[in-house]
Amino acid sequence: MNTFYITTPLYYINARPHLGHTYTTLVADCVSRYKKMKGYKVCFLTGTDEHGQNIERAAMDQKVSPQELADKNTEEYRKLWARFGVEYDQFIRTTDRQHHVASREIFQRAFDRGFIYKGEYSGWYCIPCNLFAPEAEIVPNCEVCRRSTERVTEESYFFKLSAFQGQLLDLYRQSPEFINPPSRRNEVIRFVQDGLKDLSISRTSVKWGIPLTFDKSHVIYVWFEALVGYLSGIGFGNKHTRDQFETYWPAQMQLVGKDIIRFHTVYWPAFLLAAGLPLPDRVYAHGWWLKDETKMSKSRGNVINPHILLNHFGSDAVRYFLLREIPFGGDGNFSYEALIHRVNSDLANDFGNLVSRTLTLISRHFGDIIPNPSADQLSSTLEKEVQNRAVLTIELYQKYMDELAFSKALEAIWELLSRTNKYINESAPWRLSKDPAQRSRLGTILFTCAEVSRITTVLLAPVLPGSCSRVWKQLGIQEELKSQRLDQLAWGQRVVGANLGQITAVFPRLDKEVILQRLFDQSNSKKKSKSEKSNKTEIVTPAVKDKSAKSSKVIVPSEAQSTTITIDDFTKVDLRVGQVVSAEKVKGADRLLQLVVDIGTETRQILAGIAESYSTESLVGKKIIVVANLQARKLRGLESCGMLLAASVGHEGTPVLATFLEEVPNGARLK
Ligand code: MSP
Repeated sequence: MNTFYITTPLYYINARPHLGHTYTTLVADCVSRYKKMKGYKVCFLTGTDEHGQNIERAAMDQKVSPQELADKNTEEYRKLWARFGVEYDQFIRTTDRQHHVASREIFQRAFDRGFIYKGEYSGWYCIPCNLFAPEAEIVPNCEVCRRSTERVTEESYFFKLSAFQGQLLDLYRQSPEFINPPSRRNEVIRFVQDGLKDLSISRTSVKWGIPLTFDKSHVIYVWFEALVGYLSGIGFGNKHTRDQFETYWPAQMQLVGKDIIRFHTVYWPAFLLAAGLPLPDRVYAHGWWLKDETKMSKSRGNVINPHILLNHFGSDAVRYFLLREIPFGGDGNFSYEALIHRVNSDLANDFGNLVSRTLTLISRHFGDIIPNPSADQLSSTLEKEVQNRAVLTIELYQKYMDELAFSKALEAIWELLSRTNKYINESAPWRLSKDPAQRSRLGTILFTCAEVSRITTVLLAPVLPGSCSRVWKQLGIQEELKSQRLDQLAWGQRVVGANLGQITAVFPRLDKEVILQRLFDQSNSKKKSKSEKSNKTEIVTPAVKDKSAKSSKVIVPSEAQSTTITIDDFTKVDLRVGQVVSAEKVKGADRLLQLVVDIGTETRQILAGIAESYSTESLVGKKIIVVANLQARKLRGLESCGMLLAASVGHEGTPVLATFLEEVPNGARLK
């Protein structure tokens, strides 16, 4: 069996995880799940980088020991990954004993092979980044975070990085795939060509670290030992776990952010060469998530808290958004509006709609059993087109996933979804269901849609694990979703005869204004209590800060404002019993239906935003409640004369029409 070892960076634990860390981990989780579904024996490693002066200082500030701080904050990462459904195979903490042993061994190996010597180091050092800045006359700022550096002089062990210039350049030439994306390769090559200085790899000024066995006043420089985490995490340095190490090392894929590419493509291979170990196949640097066009980072105070995203959107929506929104490798600006848009348009409308329409019709007309298609009809042009698109999608998806082009892989799936949704509209199964002579045609259409649902659910499982397993249950397929092999996925008749599970909406629509308001309320709850002194409080939603947002201000009425009305006020509202005569979808508006309603004295055209909860055919004949004296208004160029009453249910405000238990004449007044 082919093995696949994938790693994320080991995250610093002096701060809580933010969206940037979450991104790398979710990408790794998605790749790991994808590879598992392709039959690989995968090891997915993540973990925490817990030593160094910045942790020592943070612990001092919080009046706890560095170990206590590390224990507490590493849990933050574990909890977050659990909430996102991240299924890592190994979690390495650099404070683990095993890691200490492994780090000392790598140091010793490089020392024994003549690549480490003792000297004195004096240089400009950035404590938060654990990074020396290039030598300069005046205090330089850190190259990574731009903060001011400090002068440090101390006895130190040095790593002979300069000795590896030739071997590194050979590596980049002979294995061009080592540095990804290719656009990053030149920047690394230039850095190495400019000449490599030896690297100070031990500290006497820092206590919170791994002491050297042969010189206990020194601890190993954090970057040197943190990188060793990729080895210690799979068992390096322990004879009992040697097999595991040998099974997985060298790694096939090491994911990092672009800011730490030099550590991973220059220092890391040099350390490995010095220790006589094989090099990883690929290092892949992704871009940054930006907020308001600047890098999201704790020091800038513009981070997005992933827990808040989870609370409002759920894990799969965030996973989908992060992978779909920007091409992997590039930077991307985060906005709540874009996230809400993706959920509503891609997940609720395209994927959710296809599944729920298909399953509802199968349940209604075939007693919950996925029907057999007719062989003749399956080879008709329309069905063939959908089938061919599905076959092409399976191929394209794997090609793009192998290139880490997640956005393109998802785009390919969405082409298939939109072709299939169009196919349903074109073949109008709800109309055929009224004609018994069309039963076999109806079966073919619903089979085709169910088969597309099965295929897309398997393809999307690495990205949307939770939702896809819910869809899978609804499809009623017996085998486990996780056991489906992507490399064996093909168009077929595997769904025929499946007994559907309970049908529920997997991707409810989000109400943009409501969500933005809730996000605002949450992030401003402290400020709000101060500003609530005035009668009316004008507050700015998160949308205001976002240039792409259209909405700007939300007026919050003070609690003193009256919310009761008199009976006279109420009787001004003319509520009537109406009966739906016809219902049609409004072109270009996903939620809107154009209804003709008989209200006793006349028929009215009313537009209602209920298309996602009610099919047009289910409405015809239904008795409803109409606000008859509402001023007419135009929506999408069509006049709406009145309004329907519906309960707004749940978090998403799903409409549920008010109706009657007994027979009532059209036009009867409600009082
Ligand atoms: N501890 C080192 C890594 C050692 S690996 C042996 C470290 N930790 S970190 O917590 O600062 O960063 C971890 C990763 O998060 C990096 O890959 C970094 O690029 C990524 N991100 C931090 N902020 C980010 C964004 N705003 N956007 C995307 N990823 C970013 O570096």
